[in-house]
Amino acid sequence: MSASGSKLVTVENLQVQFFGGTNPVRAVDGVSFDIAEGETVALVGESGCGKSVTAMSLARLVPQPPGCYAGGRILFGGQDVLAMDEATLRKLRGRDISYVFQEPGSALNPVFTIGWQIMEAICIHRPDADARAEALEMMRLVGIPEPEQRLKSYPHELSGGQQQRVMIAMAIACRPKLLVADEPTTALDVTIQAQILDLLRDLQKRLGMAMLLITHNLGLVAETAHRMFVMYAGRIVESGAAPEVLAQPRHPYTRALLEAVPRLEGTEGRLKAIEGTVPNPAELPPGCKFHPRCIFAGERCRVEEPVWEAQSPECGVRCFFWKELA
Ligand SMILES: Nc1ncnc2c1ncn2[C@@H]1O[C@H](COP(=O)(O)OP(=O)(O)O)[C@@H](O)[C@H]1O
Ligand SMILES: [Mg+2]
Repeated sequence: MSASGSKLVTVENLQVQFFGGTNPVRAVDGVSFDIAEGETVALVGESGCGKSVTAMSLARLVPQPPGCYAGGRILFGGQDVLAMDEATLRKLRGRDISYVFQEPGSALNPVFTIGWQIMEAICIHRPDADARAEALEMMRLVGIPEPEQRLKSYPHELSGGQQQRVMIAMAIACRPKLLVADEPTTALDVTIQAQILDLLRDLQKRLGMAMLLITHNLGLVAETAHRMFVMYAGRIVESGAAPEVLAQPRHPYTRALLEAVPRLEGTEGRLKAIEGTVPNPAELPPGCKFHPRCIFAGERCRVEEPVWEAQSPECGVRCFFWKELA
């Protein structure tokens, strides 16, 4: 699986910090990646690694203050997002990038019907469209049964999986060039997770949009993403074609994440959590940010931070010892 084509998004050395405490929180600390048109890219890593802040930055959605874009550049369709005026930014948010988040229940408004909420999303983005017909079309597209009846339902009358389908319908109502799905299945049952992933994959192909899939579960990446970026402590520590990274992870953090993937089949698949915790980005350790948790760490890792080593434009790793470990 590969997607070529021109770059839709290019992020170069992005730095996002939060101010408020004693030290600035370096949530995103020199992140670079790109997404081609129609491509699905996965951003993976544990909670607190900076995935959501990176994703929000693509539409300049990080609240300022306390946030601050301290450096770097984001290009969307060649336009500089961090330098955009408000009117252009509104177009970007309304027409080019859409987001789906983790908690569909809390993102839907409990006092309005599903139909009303989908129609509102359509009216905002495409005022000339026949909102009702489009809403029904969207509901069919995301696999909501009996859409005519469902239009009149309130969010609490739907299951979590159906609610997430409604959120996805609203997100694709503007036919975005990029859909950002930030932990879209984390709040759902395992079987429903697979269905929502299938739906996203199907929509991505049918609508030809690019997708940024954010997850801490590497099990979800395998069949969905063309390429993946592994994030730790505000940095990208490994990137490559998803099947290759999953088959032969090079960074010790990626390996540890893979070992922590819950397996459904078999009885021996006991979940192995990674020892230790993600460092507080206001107090990052010296050297490699992963060294305190890395079973392979040597003296050099404690004092010196590995630089990004690109093996190809698609594939790279940030570890002194990846060759020895291979
Ligand atoms: N609005 C905010 N104010 C202060 N700190 C924030 C804010 N949003 C995120 N952070 C911090 O930025 C870091 C990265 O957060 P986030 O991108 O949400 O991680 P992830 O999505 O990988 O779980 C965390 O340490 C988090 O506490
Ligand atoms: Mg997040």
